[in-house]
Amino acid sequence: MAETFPAAVRIVEVGARDGLQNETATVTTDTRVELIDRLASAGLRTIEAGSFVSPKWVPQMADSAEVLRRVTRRPGVSYPVLVPNLQGLEAALAAGVTEVAVFASASEAFSLRNINCTIADSLKRFEPVLDAARRHGVRIRGYVSCVLGCPFQGTVPHDAVTGIAGSLLSQGCYEVSLGDTTGAGTPRAARAMLEAVLRIAPADRLALHFHDTYGQALANIYACLSLGVSVLDSSIAGLGGCPYAPGATGNVATEDLVYMLHGMGIETGIDLPKLLAASAFISQALGRRPSSRVARACHRSA
Ligand code: HMG
Ligand code: MG
Repeated sequence: MAETFPAAVRIVEVGARDGLQNETATVTTDTRVELIDRLASAGLRTIEAGSFVSPKWVPQMADSAEVLRRVTRRPGVSYPVLVPNLQGLEAALAAGVTEVAVFASASEAFSLRNINCTIADSLKRFEPVLDAARRHGVRIRGYVSCVLGCPFQGTVPHDAVTGIAGSLLSQGCYEVSLGDTTGAGTPRAARAMLEAVLRIAPADRLALHFHDTYGQALANIYACLSLGVSVLDSSIAGLGGCPYAPGATGNVATEDLVYMLHGMGIETGIDLPKLLAASAFISQALGRRPSSRVARACHRSA
């Protein structure tokens, strides 16, 4: 039987957060603001703008309040930020956010390294965060990290992933993004993990977040796309990685994802030439080539 794919996909652009949080070159606040504005004008409707975490842990995101203040807020565009605790939420509310994301891990070892607490403590810590966010009418997204393996403990069982995803949804997250933090996952493993999560959650409450460390992200997405998930996270120019996942590189590049989806006849609402201009802009600011294959191919043929 022919596979069916969604007619349209919503892309969650994470380059200005997941990407820039892991770049060693510091970009100015102006650059981050211009990047976000360019991404919005390319048609992205969900653009992670930063995180309200400890500046000692992730100094690259320390100017997130200033970024939010300066970004041109376009109607219909959401600019979520990551918050690990109530302190982060309060700072995010003061900066006028309308959407936040909390992040938990399916791996105990990664949770300790990334947010300095156990998985159980992190879920407990989210309760007042989610309550306060709800009271302020702020939408909450959830992340589960290490869904296809952990840089410290190796294998992560499906039960751990479904357990955390289920908790985040029952705590009130409108959507849970399943993160292959290390980028080590391969297509059959990715599909089997998603099938396990789909046994406890509907496809329209899930998103996929593949890092491309091993070059598997597009293949993993393709393998999962016919299971009904239609929200995909990606990073402009393939920027980034997680500072607490050693060796992990950026997410699948947004340009490569859009190119593949458009080639498959799947709508994204994104203007690829404008996206490529945003990719060239941030790559130049960082002084490096984009890891996007599409950006490189289009640059050669321009
Ligand atoms: P901690 O040291 O246990 O926190 O860190 P604490 O509560 O004991 O506080 C210690 C200090 O941090 C205090 O300051 C607090 O004020 C400050 P001091 O008194 O020492 O000057 N602090 C804060 N400052 C600003 N904003 C806050 C905040 N909270 C405490 N919100 C903490 C615990 C969670 C804060 C820390 O571990 C942290 O910030 N971790 C962030 C790690 C991070 O951002 N990782 C990357 C994002 S996750 C990711 O990339 C994965 C994802 O992409 C999905 C995937 O790919 O899998 C989402
Ligand atoms: Mg990530």
